[in-house]
Amino acid sequence: MRVIRKWVMMTDTKSNKPMNRIFSGIQPTGNLHLGNYLGAIRNWVMLQDSFESIYCVVDLHAITVPQDPEMLRASTREVAASLIAAGISTERSILFNQSCVPQHAELAWIFNCTARLGWLNRMTQFKEKAGKNRENATVGLYAYPNLMAADILVYRATHVPVGEDQKQHLELTRDIAQAFNSFYQKDVFPLPEPQIFGSATRVMSLRNGSAKMSKSDPSDYARINMTDDADMIAQKIRKAKTDADALPSEKAGLVGRPEAENLVGIYAALADREVDSVLQEFGGRGFADFKPVLADLAVAQLSPMGQKMRELMENPADIDAILADGAARAAAIARPLMAEVRDIVGFLGTSTDH
Ligand code: TYM
Repeated sequence: MRVIRKWVMMTDTKSNKPMNRIFSGIQPTGNLHLGNYLGAIRNWVMLQDSFESIYCVVDLHAITVPQDPEMLRASTREVAASLIAAGISTERSILFNQSCVPQHAELAWIFNCTARLGWLNRMTQFKEKAGKNRENATVGLYAYPNLMAADILVYRATHVPVGEDQKQHLELTRDIAQAFNSFYQKDVFPLPEPQIFGSATRVMSLRNGSAKMSKSDPSDYARINMTDDADMIAQKIRKAKTDADALPSEKAGLVGRPEAENLVGIYAALADREVDSVLQEFGGRGFADFKPVLADLAVAQLSPMGQKMRELMENPADIDAILADGAARAAAIARPLMAEVRDIVGFLGTSTDH
């Protein structure tokens, strides 16, 4: 598939260990939606067959905005269950929640002392999330990208599959890795590559083709949740905003029609086809024809996952055990890296976590 073909599975000649390692994360805040699925999770599932993969439910990131403790716990389990239902293998991949591996926070502090205010000031996501009342935003929300860099680099991950909205944070991660390596004159961290691929790297709201589909949109009709049942999915697609024109036969005809572009992109991603080929099939036909076909496809792919997720949620203790096992495996990778970093930075002694 597309990008994967370009990858070469490199091996360290001395240790004979694979040198490519994937890391990615997702916030346990509210419902996972089609944007998370098509922009990230589906790619995670695909990549785990070929690469050592570490997937993380980022609860430390979640508390950069206020969270109800019980809701946060429940959401962490739900997101883990959704990932497993979507096909993340807890044997082949490592799945855990971030706060259980304290090396993330430890390395993030060091990166707070590496990244520059000027770099963080450029982060558009902080500006969006903090809104007008910036003085009242938490320091954690501001330093959020430094923690993200720590998530990735504490495993020396080389590839990070994400949606397009995370691209700027990944660029900052590379800047931090480079600045640390250069200050200490050591080749400690790789410069990780964002893996942004598929025809739905930025899934838009179903109510407004110019706004990103997001967990925080006040209208539930703006997004398709991974837990929506078949009727709800079909209803949301039926009600999705469109224009009155028929679909074009070529991509150029989608310019200036963000809602049409979004629905075609979603269809192409779900069907694993190119947008051009979808337009060749549906060009000239109206949304009254296209929407039911899209709804059938979305229901066929998403509703079994919703069902599986609900089944998994019947045994929360099993999910907790999976996450604990994942955290132990993740910590086994993060600890030696952190010991090395402590030494490089000049900290005396060993961490009590070792
Ligand atoms: P989060 O929780 O907002 O989203 C998780 C993943 O879903 C992708 N995504 C989308 N893709 C396409 N269209 C959309 N509308 C859409 N909405 C979300 C995101 O790009 C992301 O890949 N900061 C991250 C979590 C994180 C992380 C990391 C990611 C923390 N540490 C380290 C990678 C590596 C976030 O808030 O994602």
